[in-house]
Amino acid sequence: MKAIILAGGSGTRLYPVTQAINKHFLPIYNKPMIYYPLSLVMLLGLREVLFIVNPGDIDTFKRLLGDGSHLGMHIEYKVQESPNGLAEGLVLGEEFIGGDNVCYMLGDNVFFGHDLVKIMAQAKKEINKHGGAYVFGYYVKDPERFGIVEFNEKGDVLSLEEKPKEPKSNFAVVGMYFYDNKVIEIAKGVKPSDRGELEITSVNQEYLNRGELKVKLLGRGFAWFDAGTHDSFLEAGEFVSTIENKTGLMIGCVEEIAYKNGWIDREQLIELAKFLEKTEYGRYLLELE
Ligand code: TTP
Repeated sequence: MKAIILAGGSGTRLYPVTQAINKHFLPIYNKPMIYYPLSLVMLLGLREVLFIVNPGDIDTFKRLLGDGSHLGMHIEYKVQESPNGLAEGLVLGEEFIGGDNVCYMLGDNVFFGHDLVKIMAQAKKEINKHGGAYVFGYYVKDPERFGIVEFNEKGDVLSLEEKPKEPKSNFAVVGMYFYDNKVIEIAKGVKPSDRGELEITSVNQEYLNRGELKVKLLGRGFAWFDAGTHDSFLEAGEFVSTIENKTGLMIGCVEEIAYKNGWIDREQLIELAKFLEKTEYGRYLLELE
């Protein structure tokens, strides 16, 4: 399985902050937003990652993450000429995905939860073994903002709707999707929606039509933020700060994960930490066992 992280888009809901800078570089507390989805694919053991980025942003991304070799990873970038929608990243990723399955993440989503990686690993295993699509639902108070999934009492998926005016449920489909290789063909067949975007909900709908969509609810004990609005952005930062300062452990620290995964050795970790030595972040890296 390979990973694609969507890091383009227009970021209009964060204007004027994102008028001149891509939102994925903004700090969620003490690290760039993009570290959070990247850290999750790393925790899942995926070393090959493609970032979908806006024209003009490649150099900035490269300054931050390079080719990933400092983390023992292989990172590539692909430009999305205009923000045509979430499904387009899967088409742009065709060459990178090759014959593999894919973990598809939204660059502005922040997740936290005790068993999160275990749950992601289950999804990965399921897709590698049986194919299809595996997505996650999360209870939200403002379902009009999201892709919404409706269930019956048995937990079967009845419908999917993108930003419904009259939502049939309060469960949003979060920005972390697992697909088999068919997703490339499926994404290529998606037509623009009424708002003119190639919707990821249309991809998921096609899997649902084929009887190949699994949805797992993330219940109590999970936190999910779509950090694309001023309030949710601030909320995510406050959340990360609270958890990190209470537990003494970082969320989304990519250097730590690379080290713990055995992708870099102690010497390489110290090299990375030296660069950050004036920060708590750097000191945290130096103190890792
Ligand atoms: P959104 O937050 O839905 O869209 P956006 O980033 O364009 O922001 P806004 O609605 O405020 O204008 O995007 C979800 C994630 O997907 C986010 O990380 C940006 C990324 N994205 C792309 O990479 N390409 C796209 O075409 C779109 C629409 C989003």
